[in-house]
Amino acid sequence: MGDLTGRRIVLGVTGGIAAYKAVEVCRHLVDAGAHVAPILTKGALRFVGSATFDALASERVQTSLWNEEHPIPHTRLGQGADAIVVCPATARLLADYRSGRSGDLLTATLLATRAPVIVCPAMHTEMWEQPAVQENVQVLAARGVEIVGPDEGRLAGGDVGAGRLAEPMVIVEAVERALSGGGRDLEGRTVLVTAGGTREPICPVRYIGNRSSGKQGHALAAEAAARGAKVLCVSTAPGHAPDASTIEVIAVETAAEMAAAVGHLAPGADYVFMAAAVADFRPVEVSDEKIKKADGLPEIRLEPTADILAELGRTRTSGQVIVGFAAETTDLRQNAAAKLAAKGADLIVANDVTAPDTGFDHDTNAVVLLDADGGEAEVPLAGKRQVARAVLDAAVDIRRRRMAGGGVGS
Ligand SMILES: Cc1cc2nc3c(=O)[nH]c(=O)nc-3n(C[C@H](O)[C@H](O)[C@H](O)COP(=O)(O)O)c2cc1C
Repeated sequence: MGDLTGRRIVLGVTGGIAAYKAVEVCRHLVDAGAHVAPILTKGALRFVGSATFDALASERVQTSLWNEEHPIPHTRLGQGADAIVVCPATARLLADYRSGRSGDLLTATLLATRAPVIVCPAMHTEMWEQPAVQENVQVLAARGVEIVGPDEGRLAGGDVGAGRLAEPMVIVEAVERALSGGGRDLEGRTVLVTAGGTREPICPVRYIGNRSSGKQGHALAAEAAARGAKVLCVSTAPGHAPDASTIEVIAVETAAEMAAAVGHLAPGADYVFMAAAVADFRPVEVSDEKIKKADGLPEIRLEPTADILAELGRTRTSGQVIVGFAAETTDLRQNAAAKLAAKGADLIVANDVTAPDTGFDHDTNAVVLLDADGGEAEVPLAGKRQVARAVLDAAVDIRRRRMAGGGVGS
């Protein structure tokens, strides 16, 4: 998902049955780090109480143009917004916004902003299909307002048809897109990302693991989805994977399960990012029962696991970009360059996991990017999402060069 951290979002809620779903949109936006200022119309207050939004949002609900705390609230909210999302938008809201009427705080705020506006209509099919409503929507869209939904499906009162509010996650993604400046360079592409550390069982209770949290891989998955990709995220920490309609999470635990999932999915992927920390060894025998202390020290014989990255390098499909990761504790560049050459990858993302705030389980990372053409770039300490952006930029650039006949790694 796009980076919403610190972005100011006005969430307008109008008086339709779907108003309760705006609560979920509000929660997702706040969870993603946005500052959410809710405006509820009088109609909305007939459907949902302000207390829920007061509790979940970043500031108290505003409902009126006549506010004692702030003499001109519509300009404060409209001018200060990075984006405004109206969810749900009634037929009344569409008509007033289209014709420039500012009869309440929400429509006045919509007129007092230069921020991107996302409008999510929801109503019964008969209302939605009215020529007047359709015309209002078309005029708003032509003016640059993003219209999200409505979907077809179950409506209030047991009816089925067009007019159902778009899914909350789809609405949140539209807000993210609006704020990312519309950088959709991965539209139509499939991105496979692995994330987390594998666990190799010794017995039903114990395993050999590593300290990878999956945060960097998940940040890559979220960034790729925000840039328009369909994302397949093979993760050992699926509960922490980003939640988006275009991200499919495949839960695995062991290196063998990860190898099988990647082997199955990679042929259909344009990009493969092997961000997971995959075990190099696994116990030869796995005990069916817990190994007891009283039985003495166990002897654990190890055998190598499959080398997923090397296999990807051998079986790559035409045009596919393969990115490996190297977590190192010494000789960062030399080790990463050796891995790049040995595995047949296009790019290696190397980090020194002994450096402060870098690597395993931190929210920040600092990496060096080495490509198969001898190119090298340093990404200094930054949030894992920003690092993901730099890694994706480099991979997209490799694919562009290759398509243009540059032949990197091809
Ligand atoms: C039970 C009920 C459900 C309604 N659902 C919708 C709806 O889903 N979409 C819509 O456009 N209007 C719906 N309306 C009509 C709006 O509530 C009405 O047009 C109201 O004036 C909208 O006010 P607002 O846009 O200021 O919030 C509904 C009305 C009622 C009584």
